[in-house]
Formats: sequence, structure tokens, C-alpha cells
Amino acid sequence: MFELLVVVGARPNFVKVGPVVASLSERDVVRPRLLHTGQHYDRKMSAAFLEQLAFPEPEFQLGIGSGSHAEQTAAVLVGVERVLLDEPFDAILVAGDVNSTLAAALSATKLGVPVIHLEAGLRSGDWAMPEEINRVVCDRVSDLLLCHSDEAIDNLVGEGIARDRAVMVGNTMIDSLMRLLPAARAGGALSRLRISPRDYVLVTLHRPSLVDDPPSLAAVFDVLAEVARELPVIFPMHPRTRARLSGDVPSGMLVTEPLEYLDFIALEEEARLVITDSGGVQEETSVLGVPCLTYRTTTERPVTITHGTNVLVGTEPLALREACADSLRAGMLDHRPTIPLWDGAAGPRAAEAIEAFLDRRLSASALAQPSP
Ligand code: UD1
Ligand code: UDP
Repeated sequence: MFELLVVVGARPNFVKVGPVVASLSERDVVRPRLLHTGQHYDRKMSAAFLEQLAFPEPEFQLGIGSGSHAEQTAAVLVGVERVLLDEPFDAILVAGDVNSTLAAALSATKLGVPVIHLEAGLRSGDWAMPEEINRVVCDRVSDLLLCHSDEAIDNLVGEGIARDRAVMVGNTMIDSLMRLLPAARAGGALSRLRISPRDYVLVTLHRPSLVDDPPSLAAVFDVLAEVARELPVIFPMHPRTRARLSGDVPSGMLVTEPLEYLDFIALEEEARLVITDSGGVQEETSVLGVPCLTYRTTTERPVTITHGTNVLVGTEPLALREACADSLRAGMLDHRPTIPLWDGAAGPRAAEAIEAFLDRRLSASALAQPSP
């Protein structure tokens, strides 16, 4: 049995990694052993996800908490190194682009432990995004790159990464979505919030470039206040954004705590329109066929524009106001888009790719042993 250290730390990590852990556990060739860095720690940002996505209890908890980039990265570097020095692992699995992802990958590669990166190859081209630095550096030190779209593979090859290190497995985040939608629908989130299907706008915003800049955040709130005069606006607020919120919430807008995963996807599925700067939400709305306006100037997920429902609006409030009006006028799609391999079966494909990778390494190391 191979031993795999699986690292999670922040909200989107849980949704991506859950299906891979479940598939590996079923197949019984690789033992996934969970490490939670503690980058996200509020119940609504962490424990609720572990429960709803049926994770096993993490075996290792670093409890790093919040801090500057250097503080978070350093704490994960040290914590993961300790775990890897304590006992042998055949590889480490990291996902996405958060600080925990890069730090864990760096710890492992310095110790010669192979790094497997789930959701490799995404590029926004915007070096001012902390996530872009995390993506590029993590991919550079990764040995197996699990990709969710063809353009991700093209990006890696374009950066000189050998093609045979990348495997197109599809989008594991969509596995979680497809598996849990029936439970989400049964959960009654809409009636608890007293909203009706297709009659509200759902908003999530948490990028530092927007929410840490008070004038930009105020300007987007002005637009949301206008939208709220037409339709209820539901804004489950990320703690980063909540910490910057000042003044009254406009009438017609409901600001809530971050929602647990089941409630959030239930609201996503029935929204008339979603406004976001989240990566994962661009993907989920695309698969659900729900119109999505991304309030950013770039996206590392262009497949959601070419194949899905995503529109990149930029960061001009006026452009957002016009895009909202256009979208509300246009109404809903009459079908759900199809994106290649975003089909609910990416977890098993990722598990297969991980097994094949570990088998190849084992055979290569057996061949490299001097014969007796
Ligand atoms: C991080 C990721 C971002 C990802 C987002 C997902 C990095 C650099 N950024 O951003 O890519 O899109 O997670 O949600 O890794 N806080 C709490 N409770 C928590 C967690 C955070 O109150 O459970 C507050 C703290 O004040 C903290 C702030 O939120 O300082 C930001 O948290 P942090 O993990 O540093 O970055 P995110 O903005 O969450
Ligand atoms: N999400 C959630 N509750 C919320 C907001 C988001 O469950 O209140 C889920 C969402 O469905 C997606 C993931 O969190 O699966 C996206 O995480 P986030 O937007 O924090 O990070 P990003 O994808 O931008 O890195």
C-alpha cells in the first residue's frame, strides 16, 4: 500500500480534494492520510465542509491560523516538513492555489518527496494575485500535474513542463457538486432565507485587490444596492470581506455568514444571476447553467467563458451595472453547458493517475537497485 499525505487548508481545497480521497479509499491501493493546515478554521469555512464532504478526521492538524503571507507559508513549511521527516510518505497531494498548497509542495520537494498537484496549470497571467505566484511555483516543483482543462495542459507545456507529467483528469470540484446536489436541494436553504427560485441574485466577493480597497468595495456595494431594488441580493460574506464592511447594508440585500457547502450550492443552482470573484463559483455556475458575472479583469478559468456561463466583466462598477441589467433582461439558459470531463467522475480518474504514477516510480526505483 502506498502512503499519500493529502494536504488541505482552505475552503476550496475541501471541495476539490474530497472526491479524490473518497476514490483512493475505495480502491485500496493508496492510503490517503489527511493533513489540515488550519489556514481556514471557522466552522463555516472548514469543519462544516469536512463533515458534508464526508472526510475522515484529519490525522495531522497544523493549526496555523491567519497571518501574513510569509507567516502562513512559513508555518506550513515547518509543519509539513516535521510530518514528512517523522515517517516516510510515497508522495504528497496538494490542491488549488492557496498559501497552504505552495508551502506544502515546497516542504515536500526539498525533502525529495514527490509532489502531486491537483488543479495544475491554471494561469490568470496576473502576477499581482497571490494565487498566481502559488500556481506557477507549485507547478514548477510538482512531479505529477492533474489538470481540469486542455488549456491548463497547454499552459504547462508552454512553460517547458514535460507533457508526460500532466494528466487531464477533469474537474473534481464538479464531482462534489454533482454528488451533493440532491442533499442540497432537500436541505430547504431557500425557504429558510425566504427566497424563491430564479428570483434572487447571489454574490460572493473576497479577492484582496477588491475587498481590501475601501473605495472599490464601496463602489461595488453601490451597484449591488441598485440591483437589490429589483431583486433580493443574497451575499454570504467571506470573513476577509466581513472584516472590511462598514456602514449599513442596503435594503433588499441580505448579508449572511459564509454558507455551509450544501446551502451554498442549493442557492447557486436556483439563482437568477451570480456575481462573484471566486474561482470555484465560476466553475460551478457554468456546470449548473446559471449566469455568472465575474468581477475581475482576468480569469484563470477561460473554459468557463468559452464553454460555460461566465462573463468577465472587469472591475468598473458601471460595467457591472450594465452587465447585471443585460443578464437580468436576457433571462436563463434553457440547457446546462457541457464541459469535457467535468462530469462527476474526475475523482476516480485522479485516483487512477495517482496510482499509475506511484507504480511507475516504484518500478523505476526497483530497476535502479543494483542486482544482488
Ligand atoms: C484564501 C486564499 C484564496 C482563496 C480563499 C478561499 C491565499 C493566498 N488565498 O484567501 O486564494 O480564494 O482562501 O476562501 O491562500 N479568516 C477568518 N476565519 C477563517 C479564515 C480566515 O476570520 O476561518 C479571516 C482572517 O481575518 C484572515 C482573512 O480571513 O486574515 C483572510 O484569510 P486567508 O486564509 O489569509 O486568505 P483568504 O482571503 O481566505
Ligand atoms: N462556497 C460555500 N459557501 C460560501 C461560498 C462558497 O460553500 O458561502 C463554496 C463554493 O460552492 C465553492 C467553494 O466554496 O465550492 C469556493 O471557495 P472560495 O470562493 O472561497 O475560493 P476560490 O474558489 O475563489 O479559491
